[in-house]
Amino acid sequence: MNKPARGSLLGIEYLEAKDIRALLKLARRMNPLKARPLLRNKRIVLLFYEASTRTRSSFEFAAKALGAMTTLVQSAGSSIEKGESLLDTGYTLRAIGADAIVIRHPSAGAPLLMAKHLDIPVINAGDGMHEHPSQALLDAFTILKHKQAFKGLQVAIIGDIYHSRVARSACHLLSKFGVKITLCGPPEFVPEVAATLAPGLRVSRYIEDALRGTDVVMLLRLQKERLAGQKIRLQDYIARYQMTSARLKLARRDAIVMHPGPIIRGLELTAEVADGAQSVIVDEVQNGVPTRMAILARALGKAR
Ligand code: NCD
Repeated sequence: MNKPARGSLLGIEYLEAKDIRALLKLARRMNPLKARPLLRNKRIVLLFYEASTRTRSSFEFAAKALGAMTTLVQSAGSSIEKGESLLDTGYTLRAIGADAIVIRHPSAGAPLLMAKHLDIPVINAGDGMHEHPSQALLDAFTILKHKQAFKGLQVAIIGDIYHSRVARSACHLLSKFGVKITLCGPPEFVPEVAATLAPGLRVSRYIEDALRGTDVVMLLRLQKERLAGQKIRLQDYIARYQMTSARLKLARRDAIVMHPGPIIRGLELTAEVADGAQSVIVDEVQNGVPTRMAILARALGKAR
């Protein structure tokens, strides 16, 4: 077992603020439509053990914009279905000539395990309830685009924080820059202990309280089966926590609304909010491409 290869991106928790700044600066210089082929002849494997639309396709576009070759390996239709272990799949992909692996896996720690056994960079594209570092970076990129600086910002993260790797990575990232974060939702989704995840966090049960004075409203995907599992009625959740135009008025006038997707109109937010002037949800998903270009360029030592 070794240390993960240089350039691996396993979680935001392990990064320093200066590494994050460097990645965001690099992302700002990346133009998917006019990029130099920094990764020509590099082979990048997209290894997806879970469903994905935006993460997978934006990693693929990012790799291709930089001139790399990509191959997609998904559980269905690959030897994973035949019971091959995670590490054996990794060794196989390495033997075929992979220069880097982007992996999404339902188990927390799967990318780290792979990184410890392979001599190529491993990039975490979401592991269980643990982290989703590329999402946190593209969210930070989006916030800085609209708000210029992290200093003095107030962010409200609303929804199922407990199960959300997006929320976990966002908290780690934003707290490293001193952002004040309010986590909001019912106790089943936002236990009090969530506030101990990173410095600068607080928990609120009331969306009205969480929104007051906030610059950024970050919503999370809500899975109906999780509501049912916690015996929370859908209509009760909607009544207390859905983002509506009326509630949005409580935030700062120039507050932006973010959501990592996939969104469900009428559940986490109303269609009016999703398509409203304060929503940056489409921009956010678009920013995934330059951000992931920066992550891949850094992974393969071309971050200049
Ligand atoms: C998230 C994920 O899969 O972690 N989506 C994404 O990557 N943009 C959020 C989610 O599915 O809940």
